[in-house]
Amino acid sequence: MDSFPLRPREVFEELSKTVVGQDEAIRELSVAVVKHLVGHPAPNMLLVGNSGSGKTTLMRAVEQFLAGHADLIESANVIRINANVLAEEHQGYGRAVLGRLLANARRILGAAASMSDLLRCVEHGIVFIDEVDKIRAQVSGQPNVRGIVAQEALLTLMENENVEFDVDGMRFAVNSSNILFIVGGAFEELYEAVFRRATIGQDVAPMKPVVVVSASGEVREELPFHLRDYLKYDDLFRYGMTPQFVSRFESIVVLNDLAESDLARIFVEPEASIFRTSRAYFQRFGVDLQITRGALIAIAWDAAQQKRLGARALRETFRRVIGNLEFDPADAGTRVLTIDEKMVKQSIASREQGTARRQ
Ligand SMILES: Nc1ncnc2c1ncn2[C@@H]1O[C@H](COP(=O)(O)OP(=O)(O)O)[C@@H](O)[C@H]1O
Ligand SMILES: [Mg+2]
Repeated sequence: MDSFPLRPREVFEELSKTVVGQDEAIRELSVAVVKHLVGHPAPNMLLVGNSGSGKTTLMRAVEQFLAGHADLIESANVIRINANVLAEEHQGYGRAVLGRLLANARRILGAAASMSDLLRCVEHGIVFIDEVDKIRAQVSGQPNVRGIVAQEALLTLMENENVEFDVDGMRFAVNSSNILFIVGGAFEELYEAVFRRATIGQDVAPMKPVVVVSASGEVREELPFHLRDYLKYDDLFRYGMTPQFVSRFESIVVLNDLAESDLARIFVEPEASIFRTSRAYFQRFGVDLQITRGALIAIAWDAAQQKRLGARALRETFRRVIGNLEFDPADAGTRVLTIDEKMVKQSIASREQGTARRQ
């Protein structure tokens, strides 16, 4: 028997070129994807991670990885869909997901493919559902009917051996139980809710404060709270994901909050990183953009102060530094433009002043 041409480790290594600081999530995802591709039962996955921690980036990285593998293309029918779209779907729950998988199958297998081949390709699809927290069953204490309907819709698709759906006036039936579902969301407020339960609830005993020393040398005590150590299915039910829905996910993975050092790496390392993209822009005007280590650390430090944004904060910080220079790239009169720590600190300081003035 021929062995499968791809190992989880290779998928991991490839995804790690794009996604930084989320090794555990990437590992689990790599194993799930390879299991699925070899036809082994693969666990549906639920990714929980704060805004800007890399959920969407990770989903896109898998999509791109599979699209780039010519030898896997036939077994890799992948779609990514926003949960909001699902909630908007009026023409029957299956259509948004299965209709797109079928369209994809047609593109992959070509116009000459038989219906049974197309449906087989649909049945082995991978479905990413982003922002799944948007379909919670209640919002601010009120029932959210669209969310409930969308969760039920997904539920019907998962582990269902005979789902009917209509496309172009034709009715199809598929066994969707082998489709791999990977869903992700920020689940804002979940962190606080679990933290509360862990600190003032019945779980308080195991948590002991630890001493931390910050980059500036400040020493303080902190509770070593990591959502993944405390998160239970129950917390997700209370958040508004129905028990039937959540229990379909055998694997719940909590993404890390990105540390300053991760942010620094994200800023420069990935192929389409902010710095590389900016560098390519300047190159068009014959300018070689460079950055000092001090500047890089200052940018990462500033971004890390904006906790709610995760890696998204890097863009705002960098825009302040680079904005004027982008306006007239050759203005410096030099072929090498180096961003140093002083430039970064000045732009940060001018924002702080701006904020102070507005208050
Ligand atoms: N772990 C990460 N590795 C690499 N880039 C990341 C990571 N997290 C976030 N980013 C960057 O930050 C931006 C927002 O990330 P995204 O994946 O959309 O976050 P979310 O978790 O909210 O879906 C993207 O431009 C992405 O490049
Ligand atoms: Mg996202």
